[in-house]
Formats: sequence, C-alpha cells, structure tokens
Amino acid sequence: MPTPPHPPDLGRSASSSSPPECAERAGASPLLEVRGLRKAFPVRGGWLGRARTAVRAVDGVSFAVEAGSTLGLVGESGCGKSTTARLVLRLVEPDDGRVVFDGRDVTALGGGALRALRREMQIVFQDPYSSLNPQMAVRDLIGFNLRVHGEGGAAVDATVDAVLEDVGLARGYAVRYPHELSGGQRQRVNLARALVVRPRLLVADEPVSALDKSVQAQVLNLFVDLRARYGLTTLFISHDLNVVEYLSDSVAVMYLGQIVEWGRAEAVYAQPLHPYTQALMAAAPDPDRPRGQRPPPLAGDLPSPLDPPSGCRFRTRCPHAMPLCAEQPPALAPQAPAHTVACHLYEPSAISYQQSAAKTQASERSRGDTSTHAVAPPTASRKLTADR
Ligand SMILES: Nc1ncnc2c1ncn2[C@@H]1O[C@H](COP(=O)(O)OP(=O)(O)OP(=O)(O)O)[C@@H](O)[C@H]1O
Ligand code: SF4
Ligand SMILES: [Mg+2]
Repeated sequence: MPTPPHPPDLGRSASSSSPPECAERAGASPLLEVRGLRKAFPVRGGWLGRARTAVRAVDGVSFAVEAGSTLGLVGESGCGKSTTARLVLRLVEPDDGRVVFDGRDVTALGGGALRALRREMQIVFQDPYSSLNPQMAVRDLIGFNLRVHGEGGAAVDATVDAVLEDVGLARGYAVRYPHELSGGQRQRVNLARALVVRPRLLVADEPVSALDKSVQAQVLNLFVDLRARYGLTTLFISHDLNVVEYLSDSVAVMYLGQIVEWGRAEAVYAQPLHPYTQALMAAAPDPDRPRGQRPPPLAGDLPSPLDPPSGCRFRTRCPHAMPLCAEQPPALAPQAPAHTVACHLYEPSAISYQQSAAKTQASERSRGDTSTHAVAPPTASRKLTADR
C-alpha cells in the first residue's frame, strides 16, 4: 500500500476542529464577514417542470475581509465564485448563512435599509459588454446609480464628470453609447458607475478576464490606483493566480462550492497547503519556466455540483486521497498563523496514520520488501511572479 504523504512541518501540530477562524490578523476588524453561506439552484425537468434536483453552487462558504484590504477569491470555472459575489450583495437570496457588513446583517435587512446598504456595496461584473444598457449614454449610465440613491440635479453631472476623469476617460466620452467604446473603455465606465456612489466595498467579479492582455494590465493598474484613492475594501474574483497575488492581501481558494484554503496572500503563495491550491499554482503560467517543462493540467474535470463527491469534494482528483477522504468532509481549520486549510492530511488522526504507515514501510524496507512505494509529499510549489 502506498504511504500517504507527510504534511509540511508548519512548526505546530495539526488543527483543532474549531470553526474556521478569521485568517486576518488578530485585532483587525473585518468590514465584511460571510458565515456558512449556502445557495442551491433548483434544476427543473420531467413532468410539469418540477424541480428534481439542485445545483449546490455555494455550500457552506465562510470568509472575512478586513477593512481597507483586498481578498482574492480564486477557483476553476463553475466553482461558485460569481454566485458567492451575488450572495454577498444579496442579488440572489441565500438558502442559509449570514453576510455581515460593518456589523449589519445584510441577509436580514429589507426595504430602505437594504437600499441604503447597497450604496456602500457595489459590484463590477465580468462582461463589460452585457453589463451596460446599449440605449443609454455614458453620462446616464453612470448618473443612474446616483439617481437610484436619491440624488438629482446639476450635482449629478458634476459628480459624473469627476468620476469619468478618475477612471481615465475624457469628458467627451459622457455622450457616447456603449457600442462606441472599446472593451477597456466599457470596463472603465463600469468602474465609474460603481465608484460614483462612493462605496466602501467593491466586489470585482473577473473584471479583466474578457479583455485583451494589453488592456488587462491597464485596467488592473487603474484598479489598484482607484482602490487606494477611494479607500476601498475589495473582494476580487479571478481564476488568474498571478493577478490575485498581485492585488490581494489575503486569498481564498474555492473548489466546487466550498473554500478549501484561506490565508494571508504571502503565506498561501509561499506555502500552499491544499493539494488543489498546489495543483493550481503548479499549472499557473510562469515566464521563468522553460517551454516544454509545464506540468500537466489538473487531471479530470470539475465534478458536477448536482452530485458532488462524498467526503472531500477534491478526492476524485487528489493524488493524496485516503479512505477517510471519501467518508468525512474535512473542516476548514487553522494550520499556521493567518492560514487555514480543509484537508485531512493536516489533521492529527491522519498524521498519526501516516506516521504508523511510514514506520511499517521502514520496517518492510529493512526486511528487504520493496513492494511499497512512498508518494511524493505535497510540497509547496514555486513562488509565482506578478509582472503586471
Ligand atoms: N441561476 C442559476 N441557475 C442554475 N444554476 C446556476 C445559476 N447560477 C449559477 N449556477 C450554477 O452554479 C455553479 C456555480 O456557478 P458560478 O457562476 O457561481 O461559477 P463561477 O465560479 O463564477 O464560474 P466562472 O469562472 O465560469 O464565472 C455552476 O454549476 C452554474 O452552472
Ligand atoms: S482531504 Fe481532500 S485534498 Fe486532502 S488528501 Fe483527502 S482528498 Fe486530498
Ligand atoms: Mg463567474
């Protein structure tokens, strides 16, 4: 039987089963806290279109974003990033869990209180084309967000002009329509539309993934500049690990509706703990890696969220899966300061199992039995470069 891998030595014993701790620094106050968020979309079919099953898009997601910081949310397509974003802003209703913004429970608010809170929480969507009404000029698109929140008159135009300048668009663009703009200019309009109401939290859902590489860098640099200028707290969603490292103070890695690793960006990138994070990082583009030395892509497809694997959802693709992984879902638990992971490899029971397996292997080797083979430990991969 192969010996399971040893977890990296983190200078402390494996985790407790306590609930996920905030990975932010002790004493820092989160502006946004998400606790046990769940959303399943019914899938209709059969006679009379009755709901037969459900896509478990977000299944027990918890994280926090410290005021003034950026949390990068990464994961493969379909893992539930956009649904999480929409749940945070309550653009879709959660089935369970809480979203707390500056001490207020977003999931419990209604009417005027929710409208007022929405001014403080804005979103920029992935697709700059479909997110702008083609029949409205730029001035009206941006000003609309102010009018929705009760502002009117000449002050609106002045505010729109100022924010257009902030996003690097000359005033002449105010009279243009979306079809008269490039992709990058449209995304600047989307940014302006979000910023014009002076939000405290900006949720950016893959804001550059639909743009050309050259334009991506410009918009990302603008984003960094605006984030500082407007004093924003940001939830930045992307599948690009290099971009997330460049922009984020902390990182949450999502797999099939759940957070599998979460911590300060420098800790996660220096020593990724979850086998999924390690695989993502190993596969990320690296300009320093010679051609032909790229690791193979992650084996297999993302399983269906209609029927996720039992226990650990990553087990069908994990090179270190153990019998326990099919039986019990691992809990997100702290492993090092500002670093939490959901993986049985780091739990005391798995560690003692590994140690006894290692001992068995050593004694078999001393008897000359070479039928067992060690599996390479899930070592941290290279440090990623962020050259944007
Ligand atoms: N309104 C909906 N009705 C049914 N299923 C949905 C709905 N919205 C999302 N889903 C499903 O939920 C899962 C998560 O979708 P989501 O858009 O959140 O993923 P994502 O991580 O943002 O993917 P991408 O990187 O491609 O944008 C997917 O399986 C998707 O098909
Ligand atoms: S808990 Fe999941 S990620 Fe960890 S070893 Fe088991 S299958 Fe792999
Ligand atoms: Mg998405």
